[in-house]
Amino acid sequence: MSQPEVIDPKILSANASFQSGEFYIAGLSASALAEEFGTPAFIIDEDDFRSRALNFKNALEGAFGERSGKCYYAGKAFLSIEIARWIAELGLSLDVCTEGELAVALAAQFPPDRMEFHGNNKSASEIKRAIEIGMGRIVADSEIELQRINQIAGELGRKQEILIRLTPGVEAHTHEYISTAHEDVKFGFSIASGSAMAALKMASELGNLILMGIHFHIGSQISSTEGFDLAIRRAFQLLSDFRSDSGITLTEFDIGGGYSISYIEQDDPTNPREIMDHLAKTVKKESENFQFPHPEISVEPGRAIAGPSTATLYEVGTVKEVILESGSRNYISVDGGMSDNIRTSLYDAKYSVALANRISKAPKIASRVVGKHCESGDIIVKDVDLPSDIAVGDLLVTPATGAYGRSMASNYNHLPRAPVVAVRDGKARLIVRRETFEDLLGLDL
Ligand SMILES: Cc1ncc(COP(=O)(O)O)c(C=O)c1O
Repeated sequence: MSQPEVIDPKILSANASFQSGEFYIAGLSASALAEEFGTPAFIIDEDDFRSRALNFKNALEGAFGERSGKCYYAGKAFLSIEIARWIAELGLSLDVCTEGELAVALAAQFPPDRMEFHGNNKSASEIKRAIEIGMGRIVADSEIELQRINQIAGELGRKQEILIRLTPGVEAHTHEYISTAHEDVKFGFSIASGSAMAALKMASELGNLILMGIHFHIGSQISSTEGFDLAIRRAFQLLSDFRSDSGITLTEFDIGGGYSISYIEQDDPTNPREIMDHLAKTVKKESENFQFPHPEISVEPGRAIAGPSTATLYEVGTVKEVILESGSRNYISVDGGMSDNIRTSLYDAKYSVALANRISKAPKIASRVVGKHCESGDIIVKDVDLPSDIAVGDLLVTPATGAYGRSMASNYNHLPRAPVVAVRDGKARLIVRRETFEDLLGLDL
């Protein structure tokens, strides 16, 4: 008997489904995976990840043709040595934002010229390392950083290609902590205040920098195009003013990431080809308006590649009915929590969740899936109707946890971080093992 549709298939990875009551991913059952790798565990559908990565690259290239730049995978969404290998193999580029992420990429022999270095506070040693290895682009985020990159490049006898990160003053329609380009933020140079223009001038005058163009990232989980359209128009205006002032024409635009995915049924996932086709029209129109050469366009999707590929498996440890004035709620505690998924407590993010190891015919009741940490805010899914007979030992699955799940994982309460298991064609292999107490204790002196 097949499971009634408990989770909208658009939220699941391409090779995931419910069969005879069990969650299956790439031909492997939740029970078998839990048995072999323990819980909590991140299960990544390798083919799904690979095809989303390739789709985005093809969408960029299909839409912008010879004016397409690089499709950078935003490593912050989730990076491991194996992931960096997949990205390299597929011909994508990679955005890193710390020396730690860079170390992972280098361990995978990721080509440095296909990497870009982000961050609002890159240290001198990080910049030195990036220049030494031949980093493709460094995205400068402040005047101090421009000076720092220039000085270090000079000391190394190198010239470094850079982009200037803009704050285009766009309020993306998403939660404040994941909106990064309105004015009151730590990232970038504001166009409106004139600091972006000053940064372009400074960068063009510093002798060890090669100013290639601009970058912006307007936010995350964005499903409409207006924010991108507005940011693109403002970037053209700025670069056309800069050309008038300096005679310099910059022709690289990196328009960042932020493309939405489905976490819950109501979400509207971005179709990469549709959005790239739309943005190609916008860029063409604005380049004509401003009589400015059509720039080369790069993008930086993270969530849209990694997010849908992965599901987290948990085991239920306790179930408690809490009686409220408004009714009652089942608190279902699992063996992970905010240490493997901080997004619910951090941004009030919404996830879907389902029983993963059997069919239940029990009526669904108001439930909350919580973790095992010492915080009331340690919630994975706040309001969900789940079968009333969920019991100790059952497995739950939360899909779409591939982005900002394992990468934001912590050791809060000294819980070892969960492993990542890649599944493909009925085979499973660890790509990041579970942390052990030895790993944790190894830091203490
Ligand atoms: C500069 C930059 N690029 C790309 C991304 C990736 O965003 P997303 O994973 O939403 O696509 C981020 C995310 O914060 C970012 O800060």
